[in-house]
Order: sequence, then structure tokens, then C-alpha cells
Amino acid sequence: MAFYLGIDIGTSGTRAIIIDQKGKLRGAATAGHTCQAPKPLWSEQAPAEWWAAVKQAVPAAVQAAKVKPADIAGLGLSGQMHGLVLLNRKNEVLRPAILWNDQRTGAECEEITKRAGGRAALLKMVSNPALTGFTAPKILWVRNHEPKVFDQAVKILLPKDYIRFLLTGEYATEVSDASGMLLLDVTRRVWSKALLSKLHLDIAMLPHCYESHVVSGKLTAAASAALGGALLPGTPVVGGGGDCAAGAVGAGIVKSGVGSVSIGTSGVVFVHAEKAQTDPLGRVHTFCHAVNGKWHNMGVTLCAGGSLQWFRNALGEPEGAVARLTGGDPYDLIVREAQAAPTGCEGLCFLPYLTGERTPHADPLAKGCFIGITPRVTKGYMARAVIEGVAYGLAECINIFRELNVPVRQIRVMGGGSKNLFWNQMIADVFNQGTCGLKASEGAAYGVALLAAVGTKAFKNVEEACAATVRTCSPLKPNAANAKVYARYYPLWKNLYKSLKGDFAALAEAHG
Ligand code: XUL
Repeated sequence: MAFYLGIDIGTSGTRAIIIDQKGKLRGAATAGHTCQAPKPLWSEQAPAEWWAAVKQAVPAAVQAAKVKPADIAGLGLSGQMHGLVLLNRKNEVLRPAILWNDQRTGAECEEITKRAGGRAALLKMVSNPALTGFTAPKILWVRNHEPKVFDQAVKILLPKDYIRFLLTGEYATEVSDASGMLLLDVTRRVWSKALLSKLHLDIAMLPHCYESHVVSGKLTAAASAALGGALLPGTPVVGGGGDCAAGAVGAGIVKSGVGSVSIGTSGVVFVHAEKAQTDPLGRVHTFCHAVNGKWHNMGVTLCAGGSLQWFRNALGEPEGAVARLTGGDPYDLIVREAQAAPTGCEGLCFLPYLTGERTPHADPLAKGCFIGITPRVTKGYMARAVIEGVAYGLAECINIFRELNVPVRQIRVMGGGSKNLFWNQMIADVFNQGTCGLKASEGAAYGVALLAAVGTKAFKNVEEACAATVRTCSPLKPNAANAKVYARYYPLWKNLYKSLKGDFAALAEAHG
């Protein structure tokens, strides 16, 4: 029997999984990475940490699956999108990667829009407006602020594609992740020569761009040795996908009418699209799907699971101590306290803008807030308000699709946050729409393992691979009483950002 490996280079860690031809999970392992915020608005990571994590997680997953390296027919790569990796002539990393949730590039976004000839012209060339999270503004930031670094740069890669380079020696990417660089003509699925020329960027710096299921290279002998022989030289490596598109493949979001909500560090609301349809207001992204010749739209809230992670780090030490003693999970304890607080938290609201916000505000300066604290507020209320605030943020994304008449008849929930029934039920209640989970909720790593199976001809196409492997759990219906409370609070919660927008900007200015 053939097996397929999926590797997802996430923000907090790298996950490697092995599946068999029927899509059954055979083994998995995770290794963590750290994130640095050397200045306000900055978010960086050392690419060497990804490689160290890959070298740890891949052999551990292969061992856990008890499969022979020769039986691994192919591997797929997924990763956090938009991150900028710059390599010099010797293929050395020139500076820490600038990540998707970094917010330093406000001025460069304006520069790109201006050089493109305005927002409408930019949308026409690359289907998306310039947002601080995307890669092109980061490239311009390095050129503007670190010209000596930029002068040495000969290659620009995304996080998973840097790992691909180390595995195969190839400079390559694929259409779904490339879409988030803001340098791809998303409609035609090729680099936008028009925009590259307006930005004075050399196309030779960019990797070759494939469709996501296509084999982009083969494992080198050096990489096989670095992985302790867990994979054989010559193992095919398919394009793979940005983590959102890859996660969608893993959840079977490959036809119209089916969408997903994913709660990782970020929160993503994703819908499949048969055509490259652009939101005229640019609130949701228009990217190529990891399905050949298809597209997708998505809204991204930057700090979803990241907000609860912050809460755990800042206030969850007692829960951490109990979890260490009992072998439990601090998140389970925090969620139990949240569950005991009343629905709507008696008006305590949390804005999850710890790293600014993308959809729908595109505001790098927005900040996280608790509003409505009274003497009755306990830590449990605060934990619940964090989870409710994230759910409201995701509702803003789904409501854009509803407003644009994009049908989302079924919502599949996935990602770390979705492993918690309380959080899933809350999404159904806040959206006032049923949701369902997935039997193998392995997200992006699962999606790229399926792409590897397609690329090595185990399936005819991605749609066939998903039909054969992806299974949903029984649906969760919204709780009518909770949905009523959330429907009352949601517009009030939405208003808070409007009221505070100017203050966020003033606070950022005061900070300098
Ligand atoms: C998508 C995005 C995030 C990252 C994090 O546009 O910025 O979801 O991919 O993994």
C-alpha cells in the first residue's frame, strides 16, 4: 500500500502526518517554533526553526506510522502564507522571515497602490488590494528600510517553499500560496509582469509557480540524510498549498456552496469559487484554490486561537499549573471556566485585535480590548468574552459572503479551536447556522497529503481524492436561545471598532 506525507509549517509549530491511500491517518508528529516581536507591529520567525522542526517531526511521524520510507509515494508542503524569506547568492537566509501577522508595512501598501495606478488598477492586475499582511509590501519594506540586505537578495520564497528548497534544491511555489504575495495575476494563475514592472521587481527573484498538485521536485540525497533516512532520495514533492487552501482541500471544500471556518492562530472563513470573483470593496481575498483551475474567497481574522493563547499566557498560569500536575490541558480548564459564565457575558466584550485586524477592517493599528468590566466580571467571564469576540469576528467574515450572495449552505469547522465542542457550538450560535466537524480534522497537512496522492496519480483529481477520503461528523444545530442573545450583542460589538478606530490610531502615534 502507498502512503503520503503532509507537512504543514504553521506559526506555532510544524505538523507532519502520514495517511494511507484511503485517507486514514497512520502517524503524526508536531514540533514547535517560536515567534519574535522585536518592535511593536512586528512579527518575525527564524526559518532555521522551521527546518529544525521538519527534521524532528518528519522522522517522528514516519516512525509513529510504522511505514517503510520506500512506501511513502509522495509528500506535499503547506505553510503559513505571506511570510517573506530572502536568500542571497549562496542560498543563505538574509534576515528573519517577516510573517503574515506583521503590521509594519502601512506605508508600503500605499506605495504599491500608487505605483499600480490606484486601487482599481491593482485589483485588476492581482485581484486584491494591498494589505499589510501580504508579501509584496514586505519586500518593499526591506528595500526601503534595509537596502543593504535587499541588495544581496537574489531569491524571494514563502515559508513552505523555503523548506521545499531545502528538501529538493528547487525554487518553486504553487498558485494558492503565490496568490497571497500580491504579485500573481490571480485570474490567469501566472506572475503579474505588469505589477512587477511597476514595482521595479525582477521576476527572476521569484520561484517557478506550479498548480498545487503538480510534482515540483524530488527529495535530494542530502535532505534524505538530514531527515535521518526517514524519506528516500527521489521522493516526489508536489506543489502543496498555502495553509488556508490546503486546509480547505483537507476539509473537502472543493465545490460551490460548501465553506469552512478554521480556527488556528488566525481565523479563516473560506469558500470555493468557480471563477476569480473579486469583492469590489476588497474586504475578502480572491486567491487561486489548490484545486486545478479553481479559485476561492476568504476572510481572515488575525488573532483567533491566538487570542486564547494570549489569554492563557497572560492569565492562565494557575490553569497551567493544575494541568501540569494532572496531565491535563490548560485550555480545557480555561474553557470550562468560560462555559460557566453567562451567554453574552452580561455585556463584557472583547475585541480580538491583538495584532491589528485584516477582514473586514484592514487596520494594522487596531488593538485588543476588553470593554464592559464590572465588579461581577471573573476570569471565566473574560475567557468567554475572548471566545465570543473571536466568534463575532468570524461572523463579520461570513456576513460579507452573505451580503455578496455567495452561497454557503454547509459550514465545516476545523483547526485547533474546532477540537473544542463549546467553541464549535458558539460558532453555530453566533452565525445562527448549523456547522459540522470533520472525522479526520488534520487540516492543512491532510490537504497536502491528498495533493501528493493526486500528484503521484493515486487519484484522478483533487475532487476525486476528497470524495474518497473526507468524512464529516454529524451537524451541530444552533441553540436558539443563545443565538438570540448573540444577535442582540453582535451589532453592539461591531460598533465598538467604529467608536475606537480613531483612538487606536492616536494611541499608535503616541507610542511613536
Ligand atoms: C491567510 C493568513 C493566515 C496565515 C496563518 O491569509 O494570513 O491564515 O496563513 O497561517
